[in-house]
Amino acid sequence: MSDQPGSIFSALMRQIHGANIYAGYMPTFPEDLQGWNSTHQAFDEIIRGARPSVAIDVGVWKGASTIYLADLMKRYGVDGAVIAVDTFLGSVEHWDRNSGFAGLIPHRFGMPLLYEQFLSNVARRGLQDRIVPLPQTTTTAATLLSRIGVRAGLIHIDASHEFEDVLRDARLYWDILLPGGFLVGDDYAPDWPGVVQAADMFAAEKGVPLMKSMPKWIVHKPA
Ligand SMILES: C[S@@+](CC[C@H](N)C(=O)[O-])C[C@H]1O[C@@H](n2cnc3c(N)ncnc32)[C@H](O)[C@@H]1O
Repeated sequence: MSDQPGSIFSALMRQIHGANIYAGYMPTFPEDLQGWNSTHQAFDEIIRGARPSVAIDVGVWKGASTIYLADLMKRYGVDGAVIAVDTFLGSVEHWDRNSGFAGLIPHRFGMPLLYEQFLSNVARRGLQDRIVPLPQTTTTAATLLSRIGVRAGLIHIDASHEFEDVLRDARLYWDILLPGGFLVGDDYAPDWPGVVQAADMFAAEKGVPLMKSMPKWIVHKPA
């Protein structure tokens, strides 16, 4: 990869999509950046300090955390890009009508329109040169990224909050994380016992300290 500004983004877009997916795109939805813990200070500290040229947001929703990461790269002059991994179908809590998380996204004939909302948000924020969408399951995306040799300095795990899923995502994306990189997870909190259990087990399994900047859990991969 060359050192031209935007070169990391262009290379990733080419590797993943073969062409720039934003060509001719016009936003269809008004901006809606509703999210959870999307602008946490841990992101600022890591991007300012470690200056990762590739970040992966695993669990994107409407794009609030992805957009924050891309904005931070811009603010700190990092030539880099954020890969946005999500099925854009929502998690179990977004479908469970008794959970309090239902009804947050528009649907068309029963299909969530999260991807359109996300893409509109990216375009309205002018970040089409920073964010590479990867609309896939976390497992398929990890397999693809591993296979094509993508590695990242910062990975945010915020997809499913079920114990087995969080542990699986942490393990899969640990292999994609560069030595010296940071794995950051969301929702280390009593309301999400599966996340707490998985984060504790994962750090113990890797023999690394589990740092907490509530409600984020953070693991630093040895250099
Ligand atoms: C809590 S939201 C992400 C919030 C986002 N980081 C923010 O700042 O607003 C979780 C997201 O994970 C996605 N998700 C859940 N399970 C997934 C899976 N197995 N593969 C891909 N995406 C998944 C859902 O579609 C949902 O958009």
